[in-house]
Formats: sequence, structure tokens, C-alpha cells
Amino acid sequence: MDTTRHAGRIAIVTGAASGIGKATAIRLAAEGAQVFAADINVEGLAATASEITSAGGVCTAVKCDVTQQQDINALVAQAGSRIDILANVAGIMDHFLPLGEVDDETWDEVFDVNLKGVMRLTRAVIPVMEASGKGSIVTVVSKAAVGAGAAGVAYTSSKHAVAGLVKSVAYFYGSKGIRSNGVLPGAVNTNIGTTSTPKAPWAMERALLSMASMQPPAEPDQIATAISWLASDEASNVNGSLLLDDNGWATA
Ligand SMILES: NC(=O)c1ccc[n+]([C@@H]2O[C@H](COP(=O)([O-])OP(=O)(O)OC[C@H]3O[C@@H](n4cnc5c(N)ncnc54)[C@H](O)[C@@H]3O)[C@@H](O)[C@H]2O)c1
Repeated sequence: MDTTRHAGRIAIVTGAASGIGKATAIRLAAEGAQVFAADINVEGLAATASEITSAGGVCTAVKCDVTQQQDINALVAQAGSRIDILANVAGIMDHFLPLGEVDDETWDEVFDVNLKGVMRLTRAVIPVMEASGKGSIVTVVSKAAVGAGAAGVAYTSSKHAVAGLVKSVAYFYGSKGIRSNGVLPGAVNTNIGTTSTPKAPWAMERALLSMASMQPPAEPDQIATAISWLASDEASNVNGSLLLDDNGWATA
């Protein structure tokens, strides 16, 4: 690990209380960034912040629900007049519900976090990056943006949509020095499965057929590595890319 890779940079990481977001906050801080760690889970955030600060890093824990515009505004205001890195990581699953069984509540909740949450925060951060003429945005998408066997219809659709958001930001803001890329993990050892129980057994059985071809789950830091690289100057020519980080699952 290069402890100076992000030296002096200011980074916002959502979903930082758990899993990939937590690993990303820890990695960016270890690589020199001052991290604003955001999540709805205050206890988890405190644990992330304490792990970072006890290792000599700089971290501010900010309670932020990405579905709430006032939380987004407060987070961006707290980060200050310069934001170098935005890692959109917060996301939720959808109970593996196929289209014929999905309810409006699940659909709306999944889209509100996985798509509109990313839109809200990115929209708030872009003017700050524009003002300094640079910035790197990395959004955690999913292998579910290129296939349908990893989740139910709401999650898969939200991840396909957020892949479009990633590219749109890259296309329109690349000329202003802002890069936007996505990381598409396969299965990762996090808490996401514990927060969303499968509700349609036959659809889960069908999803398992797709999962049979996947390698053992990755660890969150393996995904954080890719996020950090995309956020760094080493990836200065990479804009609008959707990086599969799934150990080959999508090739099946
Ligand atoms: N774990 C996997 O297998 C996997 C695979 C592909 C993509 N992903 C994506 O990775 C991202 C991170 O998920 P994870 O696997 O680390 O899950 P996780 O459940 O361990 O962590 C997700 C975090 O997001 C937070 N969060 C949820 N709703 C929020 C909201 N409204 N506002 C702010 N924070 C909120 C949670 O509190 C939690 O801390 C998600 O976007 C997910 O879709 C995960």
C-alpha cells in the first residue's frame, strides 16, 4: 500500500459503517486522505472512525441518510470547499423478488438508495469539484449491472440505471476535470445479505443457478483496492469505465 497515494486529499465515502464502504474509508485514510465517513448506522460509523484514527488516520463520522437531501447538504457542507474524492458505496438489496412479485415499497426503497441516493450526493458534490477543476467519483455498482442472476428485479434494474449515471457524469463532466467510474463487484463478504432475506423461494433457486458459477466471495478490501486506484491519479486516463471486479463471475 502507498501511504502517500491520496496525501492531502479530502474524500467522502458513503456506506462507511460496513463492508465495502468501511474498507474503502479505511484504505483511503491509510493512503493519506482525510475521510468523511457517511452512513445511517452511527455505531458502525464510530467503529470505522475509531479504527482509522487509532491507526493514525484522519476521519470524521457523519450520520447521513442518502435518501434525505438535507443530510446530503449537511455532509457536503461539512466536507468543506474542496472534495477530491467521492466514493458512492451505500446500497441495499431487494429480497431477490422477481418482477411478478415485487411490491412498490421494495422497488421505491431500492431505487431511492441505490440510484437516487447516488444522484443526490453526486449532484451536490459536482459543483465543489467543478470549482477546483478536478475530482474523482467512484461508484460501487455491481455485477448485477451486466446480468440478472445476482439479485431480484429492483436491485438489478437500479444497478443497470446507476451504471448509466456513472457514464453520464463521465461524459458531461470529463471536460471539467471530473472523472466518474464504477466498480462492479461480484459476491463480497459483507453484511448486505443479512439485511435482506429472500422472499420468493423459486426465484432464489433460479438465482442460485447463476451463483453456482461464481468463485468464493471476495473480501471488502479487494474491492476497496480497485476503488482507491480509480480515485487516484494513476487512473487519470480512466473515465466512464465500469470495472468488473467479480473474479470472472460475469464471464459465465
Ligand atoms: N456484498 C456484495 O456481494 C456486493 C456485490 C456487488 C455490489 N455490492 C454493492 O456494494 C455496496 C456496499 O454494500 P456492502 O456489500 O458493503 O453491504 P453492507 O450492508 O455491508 O454495507 C452497506 C452500508 O450502506 C449503508 N446504507 C444503507 N442504506 C443507507 C442510506 N440510506 N444512507 C446511507 N447509508 C446507507 C448501510 O448502513 C451499510 O453500512 C452496495 O452498493 C452494494 O449494492 C455488494
